[in-house]
Amino acid sequence: MAPPTICRVGIVGSGIMGAGIAEVAARHGHTVVLRSRHATSAQGTIAALERSLGKQVDKGRLEATERDAVLARVSVSCSLDALADCDLVIESVVEDLDVKKQLFRDLDHHVQPAAILATNTSTLPVVELAVETGRPEQVCGVHFFNPAPAMTLVEVVRPLTASDDTIAAVRAFAQACGKDAVEVKDRAGFIVNALLFPYLNNAVRLWEHGTASMEDIDTAMKGGCNFPMGPFALLDLVGLDTSVAILEALHHELGDPSLVPAPALRRLVAAGRLGRKSGQGFYDHRR
Ligand SMILES: NC(=O)c1ccc[n+]([C@@H]2O[C@H](COP(=O)([O-])OP(=O)(O)OC[C@H]3O[C@@H](n4cnc5c(N)ncnc54)[C@H](O)[C@@H]3O)[C@@H](O)[C@H]2O)c1
Repeated sequence: MAPPTICRVGIVGSGIMGAGIAEVAARHGHTVVLRSRHATSAQGTIAALERSLGKQVDKGRLEATERDAVLARVSVSCSLDALADCDLVIESVVEDLDVKKQLFRDLDHHVQPAAILATNTSTLPVVELAVETGRPEQVCGVHFFNPAPAMTLVEVVRPLTASDDTIAAVRAFAQACGKDAVEVKDRAGFIVNALLFPYLNNAVRLWEHGTASMEDIDTAMKGGCNFPMGPFALLDLVGLDTSVAILEALHHELGDPSLVPAPALRRLVAAGRLGRKSGQGFYDHRR
């Protein structure tokens, strides 16, 4: 039997990543149902999508008729019931295992039995979400990168429980969204974050030790390694709360003390400075 084809996509969570994945999926012809807990954030996501598509029309990259068609494919709801008919539901809420486990239990009851349930987690164990459901063979990871419309990679994460059909269907979905899909086993950080976050945490420690200013560390890594942005700019883009959660998950699984989040990261999060999304992080983004 061929793997299921994905037409109708549900997305849970209207933060940075949920909104970005909704845009990608709708731009590539999928019907999208975005579930947000609050009507205001759901409407905010639609407004942001309108602005993003409007900019692409202004730049001549998108026809106005296509913008209208994309917007017509996206609906929002505060209820999980709206996801009932989806072929694939992608969870993209806060990086917290208990929150995600509860959500997978809820999704299992609300979404049609044939559907695939996927998580956009950056590093948490996908198998622990799969076994919360009555369909562990239909659960996997689909890890988009930030900003989802621009980044070309998707990691398709295969927990021990996933069927080949599930992985094939999600891989085909990622490719239908114009992404390069790589398959990776279910281990903390998958490929990219397993390599990236030790580096980001070390950059913060270097700064804490007074080795150089954050501006100079960013300049050094851009000019010296040809990276498009330095570690502090990237941490602000990812979100410092999400970054702390990723490091904690890596440390929890691997036990390497160098993965304990650098103190400055925790202090900034405690101060509500979460990076670009809150206006301030390592840098001030309010100007
Ligand atoms: N930020 C990144 O660069 C990045 C990249 C790839 C994957 N991810 C992953 O995507 C997921 C979402 O991250 P984000 O950056 O969009 O975060 P975000 O902070 O922008 O959004 C988090 C969303 O979760 C919702 N939420 C918070 N608590 C909740 C709860 N108790 N129940 C249900 N929903 C809740 C919030 O309302 C918000 O819509 C995380 O798993 C993260 O690891 C993030």
